[in-house]
Amino acid sequence: MTKRKAFIKSFGCQMNVYDSERMMELLRDSGYEACDNPSDAHLVILNTCHIREKASEKTYSDIGRLHMIKKQKQANHEEYYIAIAGCVAQAHGEEIMRRAPTVDMVFGPQSYHHLPNMIRQLHRGQRKLLNIDFVSDEKFDTLGSHRDKSSMGLSAQLSAFVTIQEGCDKFCNFCVVPYTRGAENSRPVMSILDEIKVLADNNCREVTLLGQNVNAYHGIGAHGKTYNLASLIHEIAQIDNIDRIRFTTSHPRDMDNDLIAAFGNCDSLMPYLHLPIQSGSNNILKQMNRGHHRDLYLDIIERLRQSCPDIAITSDFIVGYPNETNQDFEDTMDIIRQVNYAGAFSFKYSPRPGTPAARVDDHITEDIKNDRLQQLQAVITQQQSAFDNAQIGKKLPVLIEKPARYDGQMVGRSPYLQPVHINGDKSLIGQIISCHIDDVKAHSLFGRMITDEKPSYHQKFQAAG
Ligand code: 5AD
Ligand code: SF4
Repeated sequence: MTKRKAFIKSFGCQMNVYDSERMMELLRDSGYEACDNPSDAHLVILNTCHIREKASEKTYSDIGRLHMIKKQKQANHEEYYIAIAGCVAQAHGEEIMRRAPTVDMVFGPQSYHHLPNMIRQLHRGQRKLLNIDFVSDEKFDTLGSHRDKSSMGLSAQLSAFVTIQEGCDKFCNFCVVPYTRGAENSRPVMSILDEIKVLADNNCREVTLLGQNVNAYHGIGAHGKTYNLASLIHEIAQIDNIDRIRFTTSHPRDMDNDLIAAFGNCDSLMPYLHLPIQSGSNNILKQMNRGHHRDLYLDIIERLRQSCPDIAITSDFIVGYPNETNQDFEDTMDIIRQVNYAGAFSFKYSPRPGTPAARVDDHITEDIKNDRLQQLQAVITQQQSAFDNAQIGKKLPVLIEKPARYDGQMVGRSPYLQPVHINGDKSLIGQIISCHIDDVKAHSLFGRMITDEKPSYHQKFQAAG
């Protein structure tokens, strides 16, 4: 019998990408195989994101397109199920069921471990399955336990995401995450280490630890001891084959001393930190309910650079927050100049329904928001280019991932996640090699392998010469 096919479309953050991979593993156990096109599928899951504007409208228009396919399939008596997962499902589950009767199943981010059961119900002819409970402990129990060699693509093997924490208790006034992902919850240490050991046995060299508020991690480890993120990282660094560790996304209030020190004393922890500040104005930080001032952020950056002089810092910014004055915006530009970022994501504020900020009059015009965004992005682009150019002449360890576009070239990643192109062949895939960086084009580095040197697996960064 031919297998049923499933197509999952992922929107938004890396956590959703990770969740989609895990869902596909569960679907494989339920007899499905992955396909690349919704028209070839028997089941389509939209794994939605609700963080910024127009997410739900996008979901409804995607549902409309899937409905057209479904009508054709049904005319041919073929099976076609439509499922909506992720944060829009969590926030608007009941409304989706009402407004889009073509949808068979809606489930939130904490419920996907029920997928095999829900699929069985669908196959038995049930419809309108809705599961938007918040019980992430159960989800953590099933996370990663289905990882095996056959279900992992090559790139997933070399570098993998691993969820260690979910949800957020910070309640920034603009953000939907605490409402869609629920309360902050840490995955137990053993479950994380077990998943990473399976990855390592399957050639994985790099893990990125994921969580909405990842540095608030406080998971239970051996003998009931609570681990913070730094102690978890030190444990992961002991696992053979795992030579690169990253984590995202962090909150300034949870940057504790152990974690700052880890950038200096754990060789496997990459010298790269995404630490969103959102605004450089104390007034706006207060209105956002961020719970810290700009000085705390600057102090953390200084201590990080003392611990690890080569660390690269990136951030997120929101411009045009309700009541943001010219001076507030200047304060943001000032913090950008002081920190000197290796890159940043920046967004125009958009009200998210149900958040406290959405109840405040948003009187900043679209023109002002556009203008501020442009100014901010111009400085960030300059800083990013300067950071990329500063790599020229340096020696960097590069994890070689795959063939590049041109014959005889391979591409890998620097410790700073920059793509690095070198001459070489496929035998280099999966190796961390020392490269001398000669050039930069469009945020890609070009270099050559230093053949007379056996690179240390744990080598992070050294200036040439
Ligand atoms: N408007 C604009 N940007 C937002 N973000 C989160 N909520 C909003 C919003 N309502 C941005 C923040 C966050 C990133 C993931 O998305 O900068 O760090
Ligand atoms: Fe949202 Fe703030 Fe939590 Fe980040 S820390 S997920 S911005 S509420």
